[in-house]
Amino acid sequence: MCGIFGIVYAERPRRNLGEILRRALERLEYRGYDSAGVAVIDKGLVVRKDAGKVAEVAARYGFDALQGIAGLAHTRWATHGKPDQTNAHPHTDCRGVIAVVHNGIIENYAELKEELVKKGHVFRSETDTEVVAHLVEEYKRQGLDTFAAFKKAVSRIRGAYAIALIDAENPQVIYFARNLSPLIIGVGDGFNIVASDIPTVLDHTRRVIAVRDGEYGYITPTEVYIEADGVPQDAASRIEEIPWSAEMATKGGYPHFMLKEIYEQPESLASTVAGLDWRTLEAVANALLSARNIYVVAAGSSHHAGLVLAHLLLRLKITPIPIVASEYAAYENLFDREDVAIAISQSGETIDTIKAVRALRERGVKVAAVTNVVGSTLSRESDLVIYTRAGPEIGVAATKTFTTQVATLAALYVSALKTLGYDTAPHERELKTLPDMARKTVEATAGTAKDLAKRLKKAASAYYLGRGSAVPVAMEGALKLKEVAYIHAEAYPAGESKHGPIALVEEGFPTIFIFSDPATREKTLSNVAEMKARGAYTIGTVPARSDMAKKLDMPIEVPDAGELTAPILHVIPLQLLAYFTAVERGYDPDRPRNLAKTVTVE
Ligand code: AGP
Repeated sequence: MCGIFGIVYAERPRRNLGEILRRALERLEYRGYDSAGVAVIDKGLVVRKDAGKVAEVAARYGFDALQGIAGLAHTRWATHGKPDQTNAHPHTDCRGVIAVVHNGIIENYAELKEELVKKGHVFRSETDTEVVAHLVEEYKRQGLDTFAAFKKAVSRIRGAYAIALIDAENPQVIYFARNLSPLIIGVGDGFNIVASDIPTVLDHTRRVIAVRDGEYGYITPTEVYIEADGVPQDAASRIEEIPWSAEMATKGGYPHFMLKEIYEQPESLASTVAGLDWRTLEAVANALLSARNIYVVAAGSSHHAGLVLAHLLLRLKITPIPIVASEYAAYENLFDREDVAIAISQSGETIDTIKAVRALRERGVKVAAVTNVVGSTLSRESDLVIYTRAGPEIGVAATKTFTTQVATLAALYVSALKTLGYDTAPHERELKTLPDMARKTVEATAGTAKDLAKRLKKAASAYYLGRGSAVPVAMEGALKLKEVAYIHAEAYPAGESKHGPIALVEEGFPTIFIFSDPATREKTLSNVAEMKARGAYTIGTVPARSDMAKKLDMPIEVPDAGELTAPILHVIPLQLLAYFTAVERGYDPDRPRNLAKTVTVE
């Protein structure tokens, strides 16, 4: 949820260190934007931090003017302590020599704090993180060197953490540790980096090592040292070359990442479809077809993608059990070694999904992951991995990662069909048309979505209705509107709307129908008539040139597509609608309040 970054250089002092840290914060801001802060080691330790957005805090405290050898940066999504200057990271020890940044939650911080206070340590913040700086200080005071003190401190903390720490008395080193929260190392030439994610290091290097749970170590300008349980690890053999460019993680002329990422969908779908690993898909399909139970585990938009898969598998008389990842404990007793699970997470770091996967695997369930991030925790902890190729997604709202997930899961369905002996040539052709159809959809629907946003911006509430495989598309559309435009939106199976929700409908109530499922269109039209009769303003994503358009107050025409690609095409205007509505209402769709891109706390 928070974002951390640390860089250490061989030169001394690095004149533009502050600017480098500020740029890293801009990249990390999507992970949390309650406060921002930096620490650099120049002649001594210098810390600048405050509540607010990166640009404001950086300008107010002159981040760009800072220089030094090593620096840390942090954007915060508050968990312990309100978002203010004192609680902003980095946090320091009593002497102001050690600085630490942290993403996660230290569960036993209260008892550690009590112990340290008794020893005379003075705490300034209400955060869980500050205990780390004081623990290291305490162990140094007892005679340990900084790394030994850091290791001992890490062994005392429980919970989720990605930590980076600097010590002005040992200036060319950044110490790090990871458990559950994401952390990577960017391997450079004359410098090294620790960071929460890959896009943040792309300005400097594409060579990356994913730090694993339970690992800790340090980086110097020329060395990466990783240890686990006291045993040194072979870091060099784990370096991966990331196929993303720095340009991919910039706005590239668009006003917001969300809009850019919506427009990038034809390209990301093309990469995903072209890069499909049919061999792994076949292995997963075989496992599905012989499994006793199939669980589909994911959160948020990834859960919606999983629901689309569930609808497809039902056609093969396969009955998957979709589980919202944070609810896995309710199903745990069912898990059995004859079962198979599909775990979906674009980041591969969502803690709810990771925990569910661990519970599944502990009970012998074979887990196949669908993720966008090479080397992510999910990819490492699953039996089989299928990658989507959406490229980096910075906007908090999932857009291109959702549609590439659905495309990948549709390919999994095709693979299952093939295994069962069906002729899949028409489906494979359909998947190949997807990038072009997505391009046509963006072009054809952006104008209508923009116009509609002018009306929708005044609404207090909206319904998203569909039937069959259009239900998860409706859920995704409603989630987008809620999260970026802050308008209450609910999705229902259209027929279910008569069982209660329709009571809210009055003159002008926006009701958005999704006609992506060809088998259910007729019945959905009856629901349009019912809603209209009660004064609803009816909007609908309908196949182009169909009669359905006439039944709606405002149709959004989507290129007509087959059953596999329709959920993907119909969600595009819903993404655009949410985006333009947020902008109309004066909100920043890239950084919706209270949210973070990757949820790494339970
Ligand atoms: C969607 O727009 C979200 N911001 C959110 O629901 C997201 O899909 C969810 O947190 C899961 O993330 P993941 O795919 O990285 O696991």
